[in-house]
Amino acid sequence: MKIGIFDSGIGGVSVLHEALEHLPDEEYIFYADTDHVPYGLKTSDQIIEYVDEIIAFFVKEQASAVVIACNTATAVAAEYVRSKYDIPIIGMEPAVKPALRNAAAPIGGDNTSTDKESGRVLVMATPVTIRENKLHSLLERIDTEHKVDLLPMPELVRFAENEIFEDEEVEGYIRKQISDFDTDRYSEVVLGCTHFTFFRNAIRNAFGRNIDLIDGNEGTVRHLADVLGLKYQTSGQTSDLIREASEDTSDTIRRTADVEYYISGRKALKEDLDRFTRLHERLNQLQDNL
Ligand code: DGL
Repeated sequence: MKIGIFDSGIGGVSVLHEALEHLPDEEYIFYADTDHVPYGLKTSDQIIEYVDEIIAFFVKEQASAVVIACNTATAVAAEYVRSKYDIPIIGMEPAVKPALRNAAAPIGGDNTSTDKESGRVLVMATPVTIRENKLHSLLERIDTEHKVDLLPMPELVRFAENEIFEDEEVEGYIRKQISDFDTDRYSEVVLGCTHFTFFRNAIRNAFGRNIDLIDGNEGTVRHLADVLGLKYQTSGQTSDLIREASEDTSDTIRRTADVEYYISGRKALKEDLDRFTRLHERLNQLQDNL
């Protein structure tokens, strides 16, 4: 099946990566709307206009389903495009539910019961995701004990688009953003923006300990598999495939993994493909360090 996956920029590569790993036999079109990144600082009307155009693009390309690999775009535009198009449209929302579940259990099995009792959840997302109703109604439903706090991290999107993931500036920014919180009280950080998956190391360093970092990628790909009736594969087979391809040229990764890449509607150029290869490599490394 042909599956369209898009984001405002490179964040969606983390969702594509997960999809390639667990649904390796499908064809993918990945669309990064980098002409308009960051969505997280745009108006709702602008975001709806961008998303509408992208779904129309995927319909024209005869995709069987579309994944909005962007929490921001989902919060603002998913309802609108679902009412306009017949194609299944899978959205993303910050993974608060699994985070609350984890917060009630020891981290990595080595926590004390005190941590368990005080385990709070910090949701990092874009300013738009944090201000939209979608997240607030989710919290009203599931955060009955008021354990969840929200933190906008817009600069991480800019760092990610410039492929700056781990330097002192990034860590300094994260430290500054979390400095108003009593960080010892948190056992979980929700990566509520797909760009943030790339900052696992920097976020852990800023917290200075091995905090749980939870993104919505696995849940999204499982949901995609359910909607399309596909078998979610748990083997690491495709990771190896991506790894091998990454060692070769970016053109190979494109063919081997059956992904066509687009940048705001234009076919990706060699330099773009090189960039996507670097991002898949980084995700492989982060996975190895889990
Ligand atoms: N990656 C997107 C998300 O998951 C948003 C990044 C942006 O601000 O464009 O929310």
